Amino acid sequence: MPLVSGHDVIRECTDRGLVAGAFNTTNIETTMGIIDAVERVGVPTFIQVAPTNVALSGYEYIFDMVARRLAETAVPVALHLDHGKSLDAVESALAADFTSIMIDASEESFEENVATSARAREMCGSAIALEAELGSIGGKEDDVAPEYASTTDPAQVADFVTAVGCDMLAVSVGNVHGYAPNARIDFDLLERVRAASAVPLVIHGGSGLPEEQLGRLAAFGVVKVNVASDLRNAMIRSFGEAYAANPNENSLIRVSLDAVSAIAEVVERRIRVLNPSV
Ligand code: 13P
Repeated sequence: MPLVSGHDVIRECTDRGLVAGAFNTTNIETTMGIIDAVERVGVPTFIQVAPTNVALSGYEYIFDMVARRLAETAVPVALHLDHGKSLDAVESALAADFTSIMIDASEESFEENVATSARAREMCGSAIALEAELGSIGGKEDDVAPEYASTTDPAQVADFVTAVGCDMLAVSVGNVHGYAPNARIDFDLLERVRAASAVPLVIHGGSGLPEEQLGRLAAFGVVKVNVASDLRNAMIRSFGEAYAANPNENSLIRVSLDAVSAIAEVVERRIRVLNPSV
């Protein structure tokens, strides 16, 4: 089917009590691996790309690649801009027909975050789902780390969501990008955030969190969990192992197909951990 709006993924997951995985792509192997796994489990999903990862191809290539592969797929999938740190990034992703957008102005002051995120809301209109971030998630993504990390203040949540009109809220409640050994969800804080607003919540940093914690998130109004490092590691490890096994290996297609399988395994496992009933 054609790409669906982020609204459709949120709605179907909410109706079915599911959490959507949001898997970062960079290239064709990652895209194929993600969608192979999504077809096996049948859970609505976000495929996403951050501006740091369009350097190779551009937004249009990512759209074409994802949409072409999804044409054969019956599971609803939205194409999402991850960590749009500027309105220019939002504009580029919208121009390439992305169906879901994240504006990340979480390092700015509360007032500036509201103003920038509200502007992104206007740009998206009502058809495109918008995720905004309150509290700045720590850790590194592609060597990019926030200058300072901060947790989400539950007292600011309702005002922020009302002022921005976002459809999803990314929160900083102990989750960290990458493999930080101390990454743990503070469920008391998450519960207070949940109580402050009915907005669907997003947890970033899915790769480094214990599986036991991931399986509990649906009960806290979480609708989307981002996973990137696990997929990147799976691909790099697969190529590395192929080279280590045979430095004269010259079948790039065999090595690429093995990487697709490795990525699909990781994605399937993450979706099942997030949704123990599936
Ligand atoms: P991980 O790399 O820790 O999975 O985090 C991904 C993420 O949150 C992308 O926005």
